[in-house]
Amino acid sequence: MVAPRVYQALHQPIVGHLDPYFFEVAEDIRRLLGYAFSTANEFNIAISGTGTSGMETAVANFVEPGEKFAVLANGYFCDRLADVARRHGTVVARLEKPWGEVFDDQEARDFIRREKPRVVAYVQAETSTGAFQPGHAICEAAHEVDALAIADCVTSLGGMPVLVDETGIDIAYSCTQKGLGCPPGLAPLTVSPRAWERLRKRTAPVDSFYMDLRLLESYFRDRKYHHTASATMFYALREALAIVREEGIENRWERHRRNHEAFVAGVEALGLRMHVAAADRLWTLNTPCVPDGVNDAQVRQRLLSEYGIEIAGGFGPLAGKVFRIGLMGYSSTEENVAKILDALRKILSGAIK
Ligand SMILES: Cc1ncc(COP(=O)(O)O)c(C=O)c1O
Repeated sequence: MVAPRVYQALHQPIVGHLDPYFFEVAEDIRRLLGYAFSTANEFNIAISGTGTSGMETAVANFVEPGEKFAVLANGYFCDRLADVARRHGTVVARLEKPWGEVFDDQEARDFIRREKPRVVAYVQAETSTGAFQPGHAICEAAHEVDALAIADCVTSLGGMPVLVDETGIDIAYSCTQKGLGCPPGLAPLTVSPRAWERLRKRTAPVDSFYMDLRLLESYFRDRKYHHTASATMFYALREALAIVREEGIENRWERHRRNHEAFVAGVEALGLRMHVAAADRLWTLNTPCVPDGVNDAQVRQRLLSEYGIEIAGGFGPLAGKVFRIGLMGYSSTEENVAKILDALRKILSGAIK
């Protein structure tokens, strides 16, 4: 859900994409993104486009055709990262895990040391499974072999500790429509000084004009026209980030953790099992297993038509096996936890053995 203050921000008068006021807003976003990502990086921008545009930007700028791109693959968005990297001409090396499990430090290290890639990518918060992938060992091993580390933080930013600097992430990207409580349309992105150094040395042009970070730098820093960014979306993101700042990022994480744990306790009391091990769960996206004999599509349909609650189903290897229930950003509230548990109790009563 979108925060009411963000809806209000969407009504502000529109200025041009080169107006001094537009750059004031972009500067606020730059500063506030540093806070939300927990980084001292100076280069924090919002890419025009949804989360996937952040992913494509992260890939396109930091690898060149023929270079090795390593992916820790334990869900759908890891596969998307691999697909994007392949389309940019890289040689993709994958380490596989079943959907819902995470990589331990040693297996991640062994893979990276063996492959010696130019870039290592992982999904911190895998929305297809509900699992959180810690990144310290991944980033450390990446740096050991002189690779950069990319982290997909689409379902963690604003809801769970992303901790870019502490983890050692070089490039992190996210979206606006999840933990930040904005409409979709921008992809927050942060780039470390180490990654910038690599970019400055790059000789081959980035194979995307729109997502070329050096061109985007000259837009945001030197105010040189690159594309017509949406002032409206920038207002919305600035407001959403201001709300994060006012709430305090640690308080916000704590709110998500509390509501997630209340949800898990409630759903387990109904007799459902969680798909992901307790230590690896996202606080933003919950994946209880569909009980035996229950049709998940029918449950979702009833939630929507009778209770006005939209949840998602599993897909790929988890199709029909899990529900995907988002409690993130403005939607992570005690009331929403109570509402979904009450609705599930009524719909599933009698169905769970
Ligand atoms: C982990 C992850 N990465 C990337 C994306 C792509 O983001 P978008 O759909 O905003 O383009 C999503 C979308 O849900 C996601 O969950």
